[in-house]
Formats: sequence, C-alpha cells, structure tokens
Amino acid sequence: MKFFVDTANVEEIRKANDMGIICGVTTNPSLIAKEGRDFNQVIAEIASIVDGPISGEVKATTTDAEGMIKEGREIAAIHPNMVVKIPMTVEGLKAVKVLHAEGIKTNVTLIFSAAQALLAARAGANYVSPFLGRLDDISMPGIDLINEITEIFMMHDIQTEIIAASIRNPIHVIDCAKAGADIATVPYKVLEQMTKHPLTDQGIAKFQADYKAVFGE
Ligand code: E4P
Repeated sequence: MKFFVDTANVEEIRKANDMGIICGVTTNPSLIAKEGRDFNQVIAEIASIVDGPISGEVKATTTDAEGMIKEGREIAAIHPNMVVKIPMTVEGLKAVKVLHAEGIKTNVTLIFSAAQALLAARAGANYVSPFLGRLDDISMPGIDLINEITEIFMMHDIQTEIIAASIRNPIHVIDCAKAGADIATVPYKVLEQMTKHPLTDQGIAKFQADYKAVFGE
C-alpha cells in the first residue's frame, strides 16, 4: 500500500515528502479553505514539492457536469500530475466520463458504498476514495467498505485504484493495508503518530546513556 498525505498545508507536505514516505497528495475544499489561500497558488506550490499525483477538487459549489468539466480542465492545466477530484453524484459521473475521454485523470470522492465505487470505476475514474472515518463516526465499520471494494475490484480485474480516505489513526492505516487498499491518504498528524513507539524512545535513551558512560558526550 502506498501513502498519500491528506492536507493542503505545504509545510506538512514538505515534511512528509522529506521523510520519503509519500508519493502523492490529496486535498479537498475544507482543507483548501483551512489554508485561506488562493487554490491555484497552493496547488502549484504542492506540485513543486511532490512528484506524484495531486488531487485537487472542483469547487464545492459546482454541482453540474458542465461546470465540473470546465473546472476539471482548468485544474488539469495547472500541472501534469494533477488529478481532478469529483464528488460521487450523477453529474459527477458524467464529468468523469468526459474528462476520462480527454485523458484527464479523476478521483471520485465521497464514496460510502461499494455500488458507488463500482459506478465510478466504470465511468472511467482512475481513483476512488472511500471514506473510512466518517462511516466509523456514524457507527458503521468503515473498514468493511474498504474490504468490499477491494474484493469486487480484484474479482472483476478493475484497474481503478482504491484510495482509503478519512483516515483518523494508525490502526485505520494498518487495517486498510490488510484489506488490500492500493493507497491510504493520511493526515500528517497520523503519519507522525505512525513513527512512534515507546520502546524505540526507550531504546534510543539507553543507547545514548551507555555510549556516554564510556565515551562521554
Ligand atoms: C479524502 O480525500 C478526504 O480529503 C479526506 O480523507 C476526508 O477526511 P475527513 O473525513 O477526516 O475530513
């Protein structure tokens, strides 16, 4: 399973990229709004840091296929690595079909059922983003959705990649890896949490103490 970082914050993206663990970035309208900066400027900056797929979503207020297609073309023109993120609706699927025919990559987002994932794949999406954490939030096990989609895509030899999204903790990440998701898009905070183990910290402290006891600083 590969890792994308799920943020529009360039400092976080730089830190994750420097660790060598990510090969892509996902953003969404809420993450862009949190930065309070111009969309094109933020996306261009991200593209200058990470050499891999960068998902930029159409405006949250754009709900018709025509509008999404227009914005999708604009997003794709920002950088060759751009992937246009489109919400899972009938209009969204129409936009995916057209953008796919033009060779523009898409990531269908806000996937909460296997049926939605299958439709998005058949419309020509390069990626689908099932949201794990938001299902957990309403007491429905999000991991069941990831398992179901991976099973169906494997059974039918569907090449659309599954990006496990709405990841909230390291256990989510490992569960998605075990379920066979192609990618997990992970907030920077969770990537950092994944680096930690108390025995690692204790081990470093002991190595330092033992070394200093004999060789000094
Ligand atoms: C996915 O691409 C979304 O940006 C993201 O994972 C949503 O996560 P949230 O449910 O924590 O907002």
